[in-house]
Amino acid sequence: MNAVYEKMLRCYDSIRDRIPFEPEVALILGSGLGDYADDIRVVSTLSYHDIDGFPVSTVPGHKGQFIFGYVGEVPVVCMQGRVHFYEGYPITDVVLPVRLMKLMGAKILFLTNASGGINLDFSAGDFMMLTDHVATFAPNPLIGQNIDELGTRFPDMSAVYDPKLQQIIRRVAADNGIDLKEGVYAQLTGPSFESPAEIKMLSKLGIDAVGMSTVCEAIAANHMGMRICAISCVCNLAAGLSENPLTHEEVQEAANAAAPKFKKLVSESIIRFATA
Ligand code: HPA
Repeated sequence: MNAVYEKMLRCYDSIRDRIPFEPEVALILGSGLGDYADDIRVVSTLSYHDIDGFPVSTVPGHKGQFIFGYVGEVPVVCMQGRVHFYEGYPITDVVLPVRLMKLMGAKILFLTNASGGINLDFSAGDFMMLTDHVATFAPNPLIGQNIDELGTRFPDMSAVYDPKLQQIIRRVAADNGIDLKEGVYAQLTGPSFESPAEIKMLSKLGIDAVGMSTVCEAIAANHMGMRICAISCVCNLAAGLSENPLTHEEVQEAANAAAPKFKKLVSESIIRFATA
């Protein structure tokens, strides 16, 4: 059997007795957004350390557990902390948690992240809903023998971010007076931030925001037929667009400041997804 698939099944077997229910929505929380969990009616938690072979984040601000609970009446599994390719894990490990959440039963994947804003209409603290992505600058998680049990060899990527879910998020933002930007997100590997010349290049390519996550997870989820949506917290202007050097602390501070509005947007959207 495919070694990547085998590892996923092994992880699943080691936790299946501790999964309290079949989640409807899988939610991944990005940098500084980890305290969203306060808004979940928690049923149980599962530390990544307790899952044999599971990748564990080394980044400050990223915790390491699955939370099972309810947002409104919607059963969710929430990843408090994710791993990134730059931490040294193979890209197939980076997407293992998404695959596991699909195996648990999740049909919708809600991705969040922190990004640097490239679009000159964006300011630090803005939210950008992803309408599309550029995956070209990071390794594709589907490279290697295809896992036929999960999806096809050459999956279509023409509508990764579900139009109906996007429409719900737009409405929730409008109803709550939240200014929601939209655009194209590119995942680069990191861990270094981009150079000003790289940002100039990405800008010319039509990219609105840049970060170090999310796209590989969206590709793996799309491969498995999940419905996907994603919101980025634009935590800083990308390199060369402001006077200041970039720091991870600045990113975390901006994400923390945006957290209350972010929580509202995410929670209300999940509740309304139940009708989509
Ligand atoms: N670049 C890449 N990743 C990021 C940034 C950035 O400017 N800000 C937050 N994550």
